[in-house]
Amino acid sequence: MITAHEIRKKYLEFFKSKGHAVIPSASLIPENDPSVLFTTAGMHPLVPYLLGQKHPLGNRLTDVQKCVRTGDIDEVGDYSHHTFFEMLGNWSLGDSSDPNGIGQAGYFKHEAIEWSYEFLTSPEWLGLDKNRIAVSVFQGDSDAPFDDEAFAIWKKLGIPEERIAKLPKKNNWWGPAGETGPCGPDTEMFYWVGDPAQVPESFNDDSPLWLEVWNDVFMQYNKTKSGEFEPLSQKNVDTGMGLERTTAVVNGFNDNYKTELFVPIIERIEMLSFKKYDDYVKEMRIIADHLKASVFILGDEKGIVPSNTGQGYVLRRLIRRAVRYGKQLGIKAFTSDVGEVVIQIYKDVYPELSKNKDFVLSNLSQEEEKFEKTLEHGLKEFDKGVSPFVLFTTYGFPLEMTKELAQEKGISIDEDAFYEELKHHQDLSRTASAGMFKGGLADAGDETKKLHTATHLLLQALKDVLQENIMQKGSNITSERLRFDFNHGTKLTDEEKKQVEDIVNEKIKADLPMNRVLMKKEDAEKTGASHAFGDKYGDEVSVYYIGDSLETAYSKEFCGGPHVERTGVLGHFKITKEEAVSAGVRRIKAILE
Ligand code: ALA
Repeated sequence: MITAHEIRKKYLEFFKSKGHAVIPSASLIPENDPSVLFTTAGMHPLVPYLLGQKHPLGNRLTDVQKCVRTGDIDEVGDYSHHTFFEMLGNWSLGDSSDPNGIGQAGYFKHEAIEWSYEFLTSPEWLGLDKNRIAVSVFQGDSDAPFDDEAFAIWKKLGIPEERIAKLPKKNNWWGPAGETGPCGPDTEMFYWVGDPAQVPESFNDDSPLWLEVWNDVFMQYNKTKSGEFEPLSQKNVDTGMGLERTTAVVNGFNDNYKTELFVPIIERIEMLSFKKYDDYVKEMRIIADHLKASVFILGDEKGIVPSNTGQGYVLRRLIRRAVRYGKQLGIKAFTSDVGEVVIQIYKDVYPELSKNKDFVLSNLSQEEEKFEKTLEHGLKEFDKGVSPFVLFTTYGFPLEMTKELAQEKGISIDEDAFYEELKHHQDLSRTASAGMFKGGLADAGDETKKLHTATHLLLQALKDVLQENIMQKGSNITSERLRFDFNHGTKLTDEEKKQVEDIVNEKIKADLPMNRVLMKKEDAEKTGASHAFGDKYGDEVSVYYIGDSLETAYSKEFCGGPHVERTGVLGHFKITKEEAVSAGVRRIKAILE
């Protein structure tokens, strides 16, 4: 038995031995990213570096990243799909012709593929059976040619041609995660999880017994707004291997829920319901998966709670769906009990979970209680044919749940009518628009960059006006507005708000340059640059400063970018809202006009 914990360690150790720097998992809630609710892949927090910015730790990086994907939510309940999962990943930023002077040069297809194969099959690492491996490569189309290079590398490594499938974009192209951004052809690795005595000669893309375990993406394109694929300034490698699947495969389980990342959760659900997993596989898997994701979202230190907007709505959907399946097992008041088991499993790897345990568990119970109160009545109303909108507003049924209930009964619902009605409810309309749930990737668009730079000016202006040790407690930027949370005990007076606006506008008028410098973390700290409390940084950090020199700069912050080049382009800064988020934390929303 190899535990998931050992696999995490082995993976990082392996890539460390190949010259990679280990970076910490970023938050599940992306900052400064207008089009995405959660971190959906390891590459996500690295987008600025895939686009050409130099990473302080060099060209070779590796990590284990917490991810949430809701795109696959309907498949959860099978043996291998999850809404929360951990992604093992390694990156090369730029190929060997493009060293950036820190650490080793980057690499491309040869090294990426050879190392993936070595890690999977070498007895020293995962030791998987070479005879059960198949791969796929991009077959080529009008955007990019057939990946004959990847094909040749696999052949050279000894994979028979019948086990190297050439597939179209639908299968062998990854990204961008949103509408625009870095993407490219990929090569995927599959492992035969059926009877080892009956491994088919050739790979069949339709068979679920060929389970995808790893994806090496050769990110050399940037998809633009007009839908074109332009070459990136550098060739990158982005790989992703799901920890849950890998742990199952390596141990010969045909079910991710049989790994130690799930067993204690399933056992607790069995105990609470007096039912057996084997008799209620789908229900128990959904409950386990959704509550695990909920624990991680609540525990992420960004203060996300169940609500009807944004991440809060996804969280609400997950908890309520778990509660509905719990009802099918005849259990009530179980979410915090199950949540506690999740924390127990992960607390050593993700200490934020135990740190926020009370917050996590109390939010689970509260949301469950709220929903319990209306669930039964709502289900009756559903049976009577009440509209999805009323079920949403009066009984707290997320639309997706109503759709699912309808599907189970073989009836259809009028989604358009739902959205029509929702449009009249201004607060909800933006979030509930279908696009919100697609998940995607920031396009580092101009408006976002401007608002990001304005956020830096805002933080410094708040420090100036409030004369306190103001710190960033959260930031979220869409292409229309910035949202900034900071520590402060009282409501800002009109005068204070006006002063903050005036200072920011003055700095915009002064058309100051935005500069960036890489420094050792301890040196950066000495400059007095602001950094978000509790954030993790490597030994080298990137400091953005607004002004001609670091010494005379108006604002200095640890930050990954991206930013505009000069403040002059920002336009006019205006605060549109100032409110409390929690005790001692205020939130400002502002726009650039
Ligand atoms: N970004 C790639 C994926 O998520 C590796 O599969």
